Amino acid sequence: MELEKVKESTEYVKSKLGKLNPEVGIILGSGLGELADTLEEKIIIKYCDVPNLPVSTVKGHAGQFVVGKLQGKTVIMMQGRFHYYEGNPMKVLALPVYIMKNIGVKNLIVTNAAGGVNEGFVPGDLMIIKDHINFVFNNPLIGKNNEEIGARFPDMSAAYDKDLVILAKEVSDEFKIGAREGVYLMMTGPNYETPAEIKMARILGGDAVGMSTVPEVIAASHCGIKVLGISCITNMAAGILDKPLNHAEVVETSNMVKDKFKSFILNILKRM
Ligand code: HPA
Repeated sequence: MELEKVKESTEYVKSKLGKLNPEVGIILGSGLGELADTLEEKIIIKYCDVPNLPVSTVKGHAGQFVVGKLQGKTVIMMQGRFHYYEGNPMKVLALPVYIMKNIGVKNLIVTNAAGGVNEGFVPGDLMIIKDHINFVFNNPLIGKNNEEIGARFPDMSAAYDKDLVILAKEVSDEFKIGAREGVYLMMTGPNYETPAEIKMARILGGDAVGMSTVPEVIAASHCGIKVLGISCITNMAAGILDKPLNHAEVVETSNMVKDKFKSFILNILKRM
């Protein structure tokens, strides 16, 4: 993403923040959107008003930043995110992360809905992401690098911050969340995977599969934001159970798990 565009988008967002200085970013995946409604001193910035951001198209995803206070922290949430499968260039998916960096965000919590590849998981499990596999063969950093944003060859050996993983595990134990831990593998979507692809994902070391998150995490590593990732396992991935997959099941499970997911995030946030 060209630096001028990042600066232009940042200036607009900054101009709307008033006295708020967000230190934590949260990208809300399917079903978690209403967490943004609980913010105090709320400011809403619609994506369609931010220069260089497209309009998000997925049904049930609002398309806006919501900034405010929660658990004593100033937070900027993405209520609705951009997906690669919507036809967005990868670079566009990185832009909100660079905006967050430029307004002072130090830690980013990324959430998503994912299919369980690990046969020990059950729908409704939450999975702390300890690493990922970029299986989309594209990357938001391809093209000219801007050294003002980050290095040409960013280190991804701790893309998911080890201390934040430990923190999440402690919160999971204390509040009996029973969170799992695992590797998130990104496919482009928008179709769900074939059973053969899921078998491959498992052989490659994936525990969960989904259609988001990896581009944002690459951008966060690039610009130096610490990441905590959490997947909601909404269904077992293709071929594990003898039944077809559908979006309704994904929505139903995310709704079922919503309260557990919200309290997990809130308690993590409290201790960040
Ligand atoms: N595959 C990919 N993405 C998903 C799935 C899945 O099974 N469930 C929720 N998001």
